[in-house]
Amino acid sequence: MKNIKTIIEPFKIKVVEPINLTTRERREELLDAAGYNPFLIDAEFITFDFLTDSGTGAMSAAQWGAMMVGDESYAGSRSFRRFESVIQDITGFKHVIPAHQGRAAESILFSITVDETKWVPNNCHFDTTRANIEFRKGHALDLVIEEGKNPALDHPFKGNIDLAKLEAFIKEHGAQNIPMGYLTVTNNTGGGQPVSMANIRGTGKILHKHGIPFFLDACRFSENAYFIKIREKGYENRTIKEIAQEMFSYADGATVSLKKDGFGNIGGYLALNDDEWAMQARNMLILREGFPTYGGLAGRDLEALAQGLIETLDENYLQYRIGSVAYLARGLNEMGIPTIQPAGGHAVYIDAKEFLPHIEPLQYPGQVLCAEMYLEGGIRAVEIGSVMFGKDPNTGEEKPAAMELVRMAMPRRVYTQSHIDYVLEAMRGLVERKDKMRGLKITWQAPFLRHFSARFAPAESLRRQ
Ligand code: F0G
Repeated sequence: MKNIKTIIEPFKIKVVEPINLTTRERREELLDAAGYNPFLIDAEFITFDFLTDSGTGAMSAAQWGAMMVGDESYAGSRSFRRFESVIQDITGFKHVIPAHQGRAAESILFSITVDETKWVPNNCHFDTTRANIEFRKGHALDLVIEEGKNPALDHPFKGNIDLAKLEAFIKEHGAQNIPMGYLTVTNNTGGGQPVSMANIRGTGKILHKHGIPFFLDACRFSENAYFIKIREKGYENRTIKEIAQEMFSYADGATVSLKKDGFGNIGGYLALNDDEWAMQARNMLILREGFPTYGGLAGRDLEALAQGLIETLDENYLQYRIGSVAYLARGLNEMGIPTIQPAGGHAVYIDAKEFLPHIEPLQYPGQVLCAEMYLEGGIRAVEIGSVMFGKDPNTGEEKPAAMELVRMAMPRRVYTQSHIDYVLEAMRGLVERKDKMRGLKITWQAPFLRHFSARFAPAESLRRQ
């Protein structure tokens, strides 16, 4: 089969949903009305939606079937027991606490463990993890390896944490002030990059030596396990499930959004071994999410998620998944659109600063590219640059972000290779007219998290002719 290059979707299509096609003229009107912010365009006018891989995946026939046998009992539902046993089988954790999504699990864990004296290290905290720690007045620190910060550099495990920095961090802040250490697998904020088994093992070793619990933010654990299988020596012949089990075996708990690798449109969990923390977390759960055997989810959701967690371990699926993200990145690179190297598990990150060097950071090259992608092909992506991070929350001052990226996150089992080919053809149109693209200025913004709702206009007065 060496001569076959086509990535086939390892599924047949049973239910279809029309893709929305719009004319260029209509898209111009819509983009104008949305103030050049694709977040403000209704999904019905988007052809290819790469805004997020979260909650946007397609469920399988088996998941839909499982929903029909969902047990909606308030307490002790059969569907919860199935959910619990599938998670225990993969993670080995004693307590499984369901939540409606990842950030709810984080909020519960940090509300019982973090206060203003506490420090939490991670390779890179995801926004909601950081925000939930900071909401408790704790301190969230990122200790990813230096290679992980260099977009052009190729490295198999750019999500690794710097173990020497972790040691130094513990010395500096004191083990008693560190309620847990974290690793995010894969490292979303760092480009969807994987963490090696050696690094997970090493992190556990260091934390445990100091008596500090070790947690995984394991939203994309099966993608991480697949990268270990294909990139780390000694794992070639292990199954994805065995690799995942080993990853979790070094940790004491996990917070997970099941809207990613869990194939759920909603759902999450907190799992952990510590009896005391589990008791406190369940009490908090009852206050905020629901009884501990449903935690803000319907019984049918628990069934779909349990089934999704089994399907996500399928190696053929992961090969297609990781293969199609890499295919998109390679196609972009070949036409001269630079992306973070290597491609991540769930997303491609375009380096807009490099692609549009004539647009100054404070005229938002990433936002310009998002707007142009919509105009060209009805494609929606998200800016991760000076719009998202360029405003100092304390002083209100505008400062360019470290990078100007555009994330194209791939929904799971939704798009086919011909869809990606279409997207690549549309992107080629952008390469041809990139020199004509001009910067944007903000005409309205919210006091925080401005990227969701900011409105823009062409920065005519600042235009370079
Ligand atoms: N941790 C990571 C690494 C994530 O990527 C996300 C969500 C969460 C936690 C929070 O989970 O949304 O279920 O509350 N990431 C989405 C994204 C939103 O688009 O990257 P949630």
